[in-house]
Amino acid sequence: MATLERKQILVEMPGRDRLTATPVASGWTVEVIGCAEITRLVESLKTAHGEDLTRWDLPEGDGHSALLVRELILRARGEWVYPYQDLELCHCRSVPTEVVDQAILSGAHTCEKVSRRTSASTACGTCRPEVQKILDYRLKTRAS
Ligand code: FES
Ligand SMILES: [Zn+2]
Repeated sequence: MATLERKQILVEMPGRDRLTATPVASGWTVEVIGCAEITRLVESLKTAHGEDLTRWDLPEGDGHSALLVRELILRARGEWVYPYQDLELCHCRSVPTEVVDQAILSGAHTCEKVSRRTSASTACGTCRPEVQKILDYRLKTRAS
């Protein structure tokens, strides 16, 4: 039987919160370094569902902790399908995708706010639908 290769997963807001999931025989070992909110969220999920990340409920809400933990769970399940693959998102302003993503994590939840913080989509506007796709994906907080 083919086994799914499981690699260590890292999800973070650099300098703030960092989640690492390391595969072990019984599931995953999840380590969290970060604020009280994300630490509490991870601890409550561990208490409720044990170390097997793939059984954790996707957290609701659009705060940074919920968004980061959601990414971690979906990555562990092999269900993380980020909607934009290139490193650079806005070519007019040379804005990397990562910069846009981090802005969304830290609370820029509309295209306008992302533009204000990162200057993405402030010239030709061609990249705006891509910003919206990332917003929709990150903020889709319902399970499934
Ligand atoms: S590609 Fe982003 S504004 Fe032109
Ligand atoms: Zn935090």
